Amino acid sequence: MTAFGIRGTFLDFIDDPWKHVGREKDAARFLVDGLLVVEDGRIADFGTYDGVAARHAGLAVTTIRDRLILPGFIDGHIHFPQTRVIGAFGEHLLPWLQKWIFPEEIKYKDRAYARDGARRFFDNLLASGTTTCQAFTTSSPVATEELFDEAGRRDVRLIAGLTGIDRLAPPDYVDSADNFYRDSKRLIERYHRRGRNLYAITPRFALGASPDLLAACERLKREHPDCWVNTHISETVDECRGVQDAYPDSGDYLAVYERYGLVGPKFSGGHGVWLSDGEFRRMSESGAAVVFCPCSNLFLGSGLFRIGQATDPRHRVRMALGSDVGGGNRFSMLNVLDDAYKVGMVNNGTVAEPAEAERNRISPYRGFWSITLGAAEALYLDEMIGNFAPGKEADLVVLDWKGGPLAQSWRQSLVVDEAGPSTLEQAADLLFGLMMVGDDRAIDETWVMGRRLFKKM
Ligand code: GUN
Ligand code: ZN
Repeated sequence: MTAFGIRGTFLDFIDDPWKHVGREKDAARFLVDGLLVVEDGRIADFGTYDGVAARHAGLAVTTIRDRLILPGFIDGHIHFPQTRVIGAFGEHLLPWLQKWIFPEEIKYKDRAYARDGARRFFDNLLASGTTTCQAFTTSSPVATEELFDEAGRRDVRLIAGLTGIDRLAPPDYVDSADNFYRDSKRLIERYHRRGRNLYAITPRFALGASPDLLAACERLKREHPDCWVNTHISETVDECRGVQDAYPDSGDYLAVYERYGLVGPKFSGGHGVWLSDGEFRRMSESGAAVVFCPCSNLFLGSGLFRIGQATDPRHRVRMALGSDVGGGNRFSMLNVLDDAYKVGMVNNGTVAEPAEAERNRISPYRGFWSITLGAAEALYLDEMIGNFAPGKEADLVVLDWKGGPLAQSWRQSLVVDEAGPSTLEQAADLLFGLMMVGDDRAIDETWVMGRRLFKKM
């Protein structure tokens, strides 16, 4: 592929806004007239149009007007086989799994069904501006293969893995620890670091895992230390009680995963609503990540994630955000930010310490960093994606700040006139409008490895 350029208005991040309290904008980079040079799917150069164009005489340039261009969004926790059961009525986590989720996921043993589900899954992600996700599959290797194959066809970056469960699910859903070990191993050989696919050893959650299953995960991680580990942790009170009963020798939920050598860099625990201060501290020290899933935590009534604890600089935990579809009722990371903001505001009705209250406020800087560079850092992907640094993969989302409900464009006209944003502060205000008032109608285009894979009709 020969090089080409994209000219437009760009916003990305170079640092963590939580480290710049009172000066969050120092973590962001805004180019009102920028040029991004793409070569072989990667960013070859990036900067002001005048500066970059002078270095690339004769470059073919696509100009994108009246839009804000951001790095593609990263969804740190999502379930591909739950696409069809999104928005299922009326249950908390454990009965919801039994009533709605396992019956649907069982269907993914059928290859044709799984293939169709995988296609629809990526169609939804790309229409939402999400270019990377860390996904759960099912206990079926067939479903896992279809997900990786579809990701490969679209060349999107994916972390996923066979999702192990040998307890607490219907007999035709659970599988044995031995089968899980054997199938995971085969799938690692076949998919890990093939194209943009990355493999996560994936015990579904401690409550659904026998000691044998967790021991199989430990062995897989020891034999394949380059793989990721993805699971759920401390999502609901009932789940935490069940884990205490099943693993009475472990002092808390995190200790179960620690005992099997799973917690460290490239480990992600989804939800973490009920993590103690001590568990946050141990996650911080080990380099593990927590994935905050506000839509799901509200939809399933799981609880309020303590943003201000996770982001305490004395024991900062790597944090990504996740839609957790279908526990989450939206694919769009804009909607995830909407709920994240509200969780922070509700927390602040009870949090006494002013510094913690401040950290609970999801500004547009914190929000959009969390679904781009912050997520990439949390998931140890920041050498590949997360911002527009040369050498990274050219994944981007083109945002129409007026897209969305009718109220959106009038709201945004308070911030900018027809000429669009000329300062970082204006751009950030437009982004706040998008996360609080917008939805996937704001996603005008989604580009993956320098190819436009989605364009709004
Ligand atoms: N814990 C175990 N499985 C699941 C799941 O599918 N969704 C959520 N939200 N939590 C889980
Ligand atoms: Zn989940």
